[in-house]
Formats: sequence, C-alpha cells, structure tokens
Amino acid sequence: MIKNADTNTIREAAELIKSGELVAFPTETVYGLGADATNIEAVAKIYALKKRPHFNPLIIHACDLDMAKQIASFDERALLVANALWPGPLTLILPRCPNCKFTIPDITSAGLNTVAIRVPVNRIARDLIEQSQLPIAAPSANISGGTSATTAFHVADSFGDKAPFILAGGMCDVGLESTILDLSIEKPAILRSGAVTIDDLVPYIGTVSFGSPSEKIKSPGQLQRHYATNTPLRLNAVDVKKGEALLAFGKTQFVGHEEFGFAHDMPPAFFKNLSKEGDLHEAANHLFSYMRDLDKAGASQIAVMPIPKKGIGIAINDRLQRAAVQDTD
Ligand code: TXA
Ligand code: MG
Repeated sequence: MIKNADTNTIREAAELIKSGELVAFPTETVYGLGADATNIEAVAKIYALKKRPHFNPLIIHACDLDMAKQIASFDERALLVANALWPGPLTLILPRCPNCKFTIPDITSAGLNTVAIRVPVNRIARDLIEQSQLPIAAPSANISGGTSATTAFHVADSFGDKAPFILAGGMCDVGLESTILDLSIEKPAILRSGAVTIDDLVPYIGTVSFGSPSEKIKSPGQLQRHYATNTPLRLNAVDVKKGEALLAFGKTQFVGHEEFGFAHDMPPAFFKNLSKEGDLHEAANHLFSYMRDLDKAGASQIAVMPIPKKGIGIAINDRLQRAAVQDTD
C-alpha cells in the first residue's frame, strides 16, 4: 500500500517499525526496505521478502551522528568523515560497539564483526528513524539481484501483492546506492562506488583505494549479478541492432539504428536518454528508472551507450556492468 509521506503517515510508519513490521521509505539514494535493526524477527522479514541470501549484511540507518555512535565504534578518522559528509549518500563500515545502547544482532550484519551504517539526507527517512527511536536496517527495496527502486511505484512493482507499507516521497535525488567506505581496516577502501567519490574523501582520510576482490570479500553482494534487468544489456554500444532498445547518453544523432536511421527515430518505448546534455548526475538519477522502463518494452536486448568513467560515472558504469552479467545457472 502506497501512502504519501506526511506527519500522520510517518507516525504510522514509525509505529509499524516499533512493532517489528516492514516499511519501505525514500532516501536520497534509492528506496529502502526498512525494519528495526535490533529486532531479529523484523530483520528476518527483510531477507524473506527480498529473497536475499543471509550472508549479505544490511546497512543500518541512523537519524544523526549521536545515534550512529550508539551503534558502532567511531575512531578519529570515522568522526572526521562523518562530521564532514553526513547526512549524505555515504555508508561507513565500522567495528561493532559492544557497550553501545543499540545491540545489532548477527542477522543484520551477517555475523561480521563490523556494521555498515549511514545517516541519510532525506528528511522523510530521518523523521521516520527519529520517531521510531530505533536504528533502521534497510537494503534497497527490490527483489535481491534485481533493479533498485527510485520511486514508490517501483517498490510496489517489485513486490506485487507482497508489498509492505510504502511511504512515498517522490523520486530519489541521487538515484544510485550510497558509496560504501570501509574504515574498519587500516587503509580505507571503497567497497561500492556511489555519489561520494574518492576526490570527496581524500581531504579527510588521505589515500583511499578500491576494495579489491582478492582481499577478504567484505561486501558479499559485490561480485554477483546485481541490479539486473530481465532483458540482456549490451554495454558500450555504438549502434543499435534490430529488435534492440537503446539506453542513450548525451547526443544520439550518430548512433545508427539498423534499417531505421538515427536513434532518436526509434519507437518511444524503445528509447530512453539518461541525459541529453551529457550530465552524469542526471544520468544517475534516471538510470534505474529507465532500466525498468526499457525492460518492459519487449526488446530482445538493451544497447547501452558508453558513459564516461569519471565522478559519479564510475558508479553508473559499476551498476551497468553488474546488471549485464548473465545468469550462470
Ligand atoms: O544507498 C543505500 O545504501 C541503500 C539505501 C536504502 O540506504 N541501501 C542499500 O543497501 O543499498 P543494500 O543492502 O542493497 O546494500 C548493502 C551493501 C551490500 O553490498 C552489503 O554486502 C554491504 O552493504 N555491507 C553491509 N554490511 C557490511 C559490512 N559489515 N561489511 C561490508 N559490507 C557490508
Ligand atoms: Mg541492493
């Protein structure tokens, strides 16, 4: 059931969280499927509804740094980053905090000795956390492995008649999941790229690397097919083949469409442009929504034009590459 977020519905949603139920809610990145992070049965409902493997831990959402400090241990580095970049689309991996107010059960963090935590910008998300007075565990509100949700309608579409209470708050600003920064180790590492880039982090923590898959894998969700459409994707396309839909970026007049002419002459349902102006933030904002639209267009494949690998473009390419991995079974 979709409910427009207002004072009453946020209060209603907070009561549901307190009583161990699920609530989908908007954040600035993507919609989250939330539950009381301290309640084993409530968190189990997230895994069940999402069909998420239990080895893949969840991100815990706090309403501010004070609450976050009652969940995880912050060293000097973590405080510096959190003070500078929270609230914002940045998740920190930090050591658990044994004597903190909130005890995070193993199910929430998949038995790891660290927790993933962030303070979202979105006012609705923070009001919900504040009113429930609980940290909220929330993965993206979609079936595991599928395309993330950036509108309340996407959430409803993902879960069908099993959809939980959905707080609607328009389209997500960023449109891609948060950057994940591991600060539980000596050398900070980015485990998932997002709107907060290495350049944003360097002033606070110096050198940052990308977590390499050869190390102990800290984000189990990182390697598998993810964000996937049912229709296969063909990346870095410079033309469009018969039967293909096109996910374009920037100017399209030189992208030939076999037997049709230019890309912009294609049937409207087969054509989406992430950003005509070539603006990477606009492209990120549209990505999941347009992937979902083209997936429903009945095309045999989706050709995706090259997208520059700079700034948030790194995160866009990351999501597209994972979505393009074919099922191995
Ligand atoms: O933007 C976001 O982060 C969204 C919104 C709802 O806040 N949430 C989100 O959650 O993307 P999810 O569950 O789809 O992604 C969580 C990622 C997974 O890749 C998981 O493996 C990683 O965080 N993760 C969680 N806890 C971790 C930990 N202790 N160590 C390393 N990775 C962790
Ligand atoms: Mg996800």
